[in-house]
Amino acid sequence: MSRIAAILPAAGLGTRMGADTPKQFLDLNGMPLVIFTLHRLAASTAITDFLVATRAEEVPALAERIAQERIGRPVHVVRGGGSRQESVANALAEVDPTTEIVLVHDAVRPFVTREQTDRVIAEARARGAAILGIPAIDTVKEVKRASLPQDVALITATIPRERIVLAQTPQAFHYSLLKDAFAKAADDGSTGSDEASLVERLGHPVHVVLGSERNIKITRPADMELARFYLAQERAAK
Ligand code: C5P
Repeated sequence: MSRIAAILPAAGLGTRMGADTPKQFLDLNGMPLVIFTLHRLAASTAITDFLVATRAEEVPALAERIAQERIGRPVHVVRGGGSRQESVANALAEVDPTTEIVLVHDAVRPFVTREQTDRVIAEARARGAAILGIPAIDTVKEVKRASLPQDVALITATIPRERIVLAQTPQAFHYSLLKDAFAKAADDGSTGSDEASLVERLGHPVHVVLGSERNIKITRPADMELARFYLAQERAAK
């Protein structure tokens, strides 16, 4: 059986949330969000290993909490970094080199489904790199931020909507490809807000599999309310 490792970056501060608790530790269904997400991702039985990157001071408590959960596969809690990229790089360094596919999934995207995860894994296996993404609903503008007043920006271009996809996670890659992408980023000193952008810089094609509107990334306080609403809907549908 081939090894498929899933990395969950969970070391953010979540400053946009306006709460004292980082968003990955907010309560959803009686458990910290990161654990809820871990369970949802673990619905994909193809995954053989999990690595959760969290802030250094949270490592022991999170490892202890996860040990009480039934994930059915090893979960390593590693120290995250100052950026998402650094957190993923730290976890990637701990991935067993015999691994075929590495999947990265935001710890704060609780509604990923087994079907979505399995599709991204299958595409990555066949083509090297695949992510979930959804079409843009709104018209997307490129802007130059005006210095004053701060809430105004100047539009410099309108990007045709049919050429836009909003990237989600999971994002999955052949292990060696992702290692090369992170090595190049470290050499160049470049940063990307997702893993696909680092692979794109290598010139390697990345394929997009249709994600869903429900696969939200908890970012602002209202997102937690939406997450609780989705959860109540799921319960009512059972
Ligand atoms: O909100 P944002 O897009 O920055 O966060 C996406 C994910 O990356 C979250 O799960 C967050 O915890 C994680 N992250 C991280 N290390 C950082 C910053 C963000 O693991 N230094």
